[in-house]
Amino acid sequence: MQRLMVTGGAGFIGSNFVRYMLEKYPDYFIVVYDKLTYAGRLENLQDVATRFAGRYAFVQGDICDSVKVEATLKDYALDTIVNFAAETHVDRSLMEPGSFIQTDVFGTYVLLEAAKKLGLERYHQISTDEVYGQVLENRSVETDNLKPRSPYAASKTGGDLMVLAYYESWGLPVTITRGSNNIGPYQYPEKVVPLFATNAIDDQPLPVYGDGLQMRDYQYVLDHCEGIDVVLHKGKIGEVYNVGTGSEMTNLEMTKIVLATLGKPASLIKHVEDRAGHDRRYALDVSKLRSLGWEPRHTCAEAIEKTVRWYAENEWWWRPIKSGELYQTYYAAQYGKRLAQ
Ligand code: NAD
Ligand code: TYD
Repeated sequence: MQRLMVTGGAGFIGSNFVRYMLEKYPDYFIVVYDKLTYAGRLENLQDVATRFAGRYAFVQGDICDSVKVEATLKDYALDTIVNFAAETHVDRSLMEPGSFIQTDVFGTYVLLEAAKKLGLERYHQISTDEVYGQVLENRSVETDNLKPRSPYAASKTGGDLMVLAYYESWGLPVTITRGSNNIGPYQYPEKVVPLFATNAIDDQPLPVYGDGLQMRDYQYVLDHCEGIDVVLHKGKIGEVYNVGTGSEMTNLEMTKIVLATLGKPASLIKHVEDRAGHDRRYALDVSKLRSLGWEPRHTCAEAIEKTVRWYAENEWWWRPIKSGELYQTYYAAQYGKRLAQ
C-alpha cells in the first residue's frame, strides 16, 4: 500500500491528509482525484504540489465517472483508494439532497466497483459520527445501529453500508473510519468554527442555531488524519473505527472559546432559528482505535484555539471565498432571514 488515490483530496480533511502522508512516508505516491466543487480548492494543496513534485499528481474528475476513475487507477498503477469525496454540509443537504445521494452513495459504489474490478489492496471510506444519529446519552460504539437523521447523514450511511456489503459479498479489503467534527486549516467557512472565527474577525454576528446547547466533539484535523493512517496500517479488514477526542462540548462553549481567542465581545452571539431536525448530541467511544495505539493530541478547546489562530493568520485563504458571489448567495439563503428576524 504505497500508491494512493485520495478522492476529495482538494477539500478540507483530504488536503490535510495528503500533506500529512507525503511528509510521513517518503516512498508514497499520491494522486488526488477531485471534482473541484465549491469546497474543493487547489489552493489547499498549493504547497504540496511544489514540495512533493514527483510524488504527487492531481486529476480533476467526478467519483461518479467510472471510466475516468478506472483510467486514473490504471494510468498511475494505484493500489489503494482513500475516499474523502462527498457533499458534506448538513445545511446544504436540507436545501438540496440530490447531489448528496449522487456523490455520497452512488459515487461510493462507483469507487467500490473499480476497487473490486482492479483488485486493489485496500478501499478506505471516510465516514462520520453522524451516521449513528443523535445520541442523547452514552457514546456510540462501532456496532451500534445506524439512525441517521439528516439527508447528509443518511447519504453517508448509504455509503458505509455499501462498503460493508462489498466486504461481505466479495471480500473486498475495506476499512471505515467514522470521525467526529473536524476543525483546522482549510475548512470552508460554511462549517461552524471557521464561519464563526471569520465572522468574529469582521465583527459580524455569530448565528447560533436555537439554544446553542447542542453538543459536538470538535477534533483537530491532524489527529483525525493520524487515526486514518493507523487504521490503514494496523486496522482489521472489514472493520469500522471511530475517531474523535471522545469528549464533547456545547456550541455555546465552542463559541465562547472562538470569541475569547480573538478578544471579541459576547454581544456578537445571535441566537437564530434552529436547523431542521438538528441533532442534539454526537458522542463517540474511541477505545477501539485507542487499542491500536492511537491517541488524540488535542482537546476540543485546544483544537478550537489553534484553528481560530490559523484563520486570523491566513486571511489570504478565506477572504476571496467569503467575498465571492457563490458564497454570498449561499450566505443570504441560509442566514438572510434568520439574521433579520
Ligand atoms: P469538504 O467539503 O471540505 O471536501 C469535499 C471534497 O470532495 C471537495 O474537495 C470536493 O471538491 C470533493 N468532491 C465532492 N463531490 C465530488 C465528486 N462527485 N467527485 C470527486 N470529488 C468530489 O469535506 P471535508 O470536511 O474535507 O470532508 C471530507 C470527508 O470526511 C467527507 O467524506 C465527510 O463526510 C467526512 N467527514 C467530515 C467531517 C468534518 O467535520 N468535516 C467529519 C467526519 C467525516
Ligand atoms: P456544522 O459545522 O455544520 O457541523 P455538523 O452539523 O455536521 O455537526 O455545525 C456544528 C454545530 O454548530 C451544529 O450543532 C450546528 C451548529 N451551527 C450553528 O449553531 N450555527 C451555524 O451557523 C452553523 C453552520 C452550525
